[in-house]
Formats: sequence, structure tokens, C-alpha cells
Amino acid sequence: MIFRQLFEPQSCTYTYLVASAEGRRAILIDPVLETFQRDMDLLAALGLTLDATLETHVHADHLTSALKLRSLTDCRILAPAGAGVGCADGEVAEGTPVTVGSVALSPLFTPGHTDHHLSYLLAGPGWDAVMTGDCLLIDGCGRTDFQGGDSAALFRSVRHTLFGLAPDTLVYPGHDYQGRRVSSIGQERDRNPRLNAQVDGAEFARIMDALDLPYPRRMDLAVPANLACGQCPDDVPEGMEKLCEIDVQG
Ligand SMILES: [Fe+2]
Repeated sequence: MIFRQLFEPQSCTYTYLVASAEGRRAILIDPVLETFQRDMDLLAALGLTLDATLETHVHADHLTSALKLRSLTDCRILAPAGAGVGCADGEVAEGTPVTVGSVALSPLFTPGHTDHHLSYLLAGPGWDAVMTGDCLLIDGCGRTDFQGGDSAALFRSVRHTLFGLAPDTLVYPGHDYQGRRVSSIGQERDRNPRLNAQVDGAEFARIMDALDLPYPRRMDLAVPANLACGQCPDDVPEGMEKLCEIDVQG
């Protein structure tokens, strides 16, 4: 198996490349439009064919490169079932693994940051990892105040679904704003300040209510664009034209 963690600095997003060494087929999880060329170069350098792009959720802070990569490689676009990504070639849901060659990613339904959010569990050779998107971050979690967000649902997703995994399962988040790259289920269970075992659901709801976060800068563009696999809408909100300068269709 081949695994790479890739970083996009504008939105502090991690993209993950998962590939099968036999057959040289790859999947990109949460690819970002600004870094599509880096990802194309990496695929070429590793001698990989892109099978599919795969989203953890409909992002509000960056544009996906799914459509761009499909136009360049003829890959499939996969998105969480029910998320409304009509341009996707397939929907994924818990219970049905996404396979690439001999490698399987198991979707876990982890709503709360958005209502259709999926995490992806990867059984590695000697290690397991879970790509947690914006559900569980290192020492934190995604916000729960937009896109069907629900702090009670996020609490359940982390405490019941993700913390039910083996403690040495590596946690690869969708973002980190402080340069951290990886954690583990055991580490987050012990010391995540919002979600460790000492915090109950009511306390978690109070923590999330008190965050008082600003309106996401790119959301009015990113959500409609990502529902269209990264295609900017005709009416790009003022000041965001630059984000739409990359021609996603090829
Ligand atoms: Fe998000």
C-alpha cells in the first residue's frame, strides 16, 4: 500500500493519497483545487493511475479539485450518500467499502460537522488509520453551526463511533492550523480538550455554543461550488473571483 499526507496552506487542508502497490491505482481523499497540479505530479512520480476522488463532506472553506481531476484523468468522483453532490459518479456509505486494488477504505458515518459527513478507516500493513475529515481534529473538532451541523450528533460520532476504534488507530485529520499532522484514537480520547472522557454531552454543547466563530470566509462560494464537484457558480460572490480562476473543466 502507498499512503501520503499532503497539505494545502491557504485552507490548512490535508489531502490523502491512498494507493495499491499492485495495479498502481490510487484514490485522493479531499483534494483541493489549488493543489491539483501537485497531486497530478505526485501521481505521475509514483506511477499511479487515479481511480477516484473521495470527499469526507461538502467543504465550506476550499474548493474541491474533483471535477478538475476527472477532466484530466477520467477518474470517478465519489461523495457521501445524501450530501447532494449530483455531479458525483457514485455515492459512498457506511457498510460498503471503497476499494482501490487490494486496499479497502471503510466509510464510517460521522455526522455533526455536516449532516452527511463520513470518516474513512484504512487497515494498513501493521497499522490502522482513520481519516476523520472535520469530525475529529487533533485536540479539537470541526464547527457544528452550519451545513446541518449538530453538536449532539458530533459528540456521538466521536465518542461512540471513532473512540470505539482501537486506541492505537492513527488519526489523520482534515485540517490542522498549527502544523500538527497525526494523532491517535487513544491520544484524542485522553487529552482532546472538548471530547475527552471527562467531558459529557451537555458540557460539549456548551463548549461549542461558546465558540462564537466568525462566518466562514469562503462558504458562500465553496458550498455551491463543491455541490457541483468544484465548478464555480455563475454568480461568484464579490471578492472571491480569484478562487474561480482555475478552469476546472480542463
Ligand atoms: Fe468542513
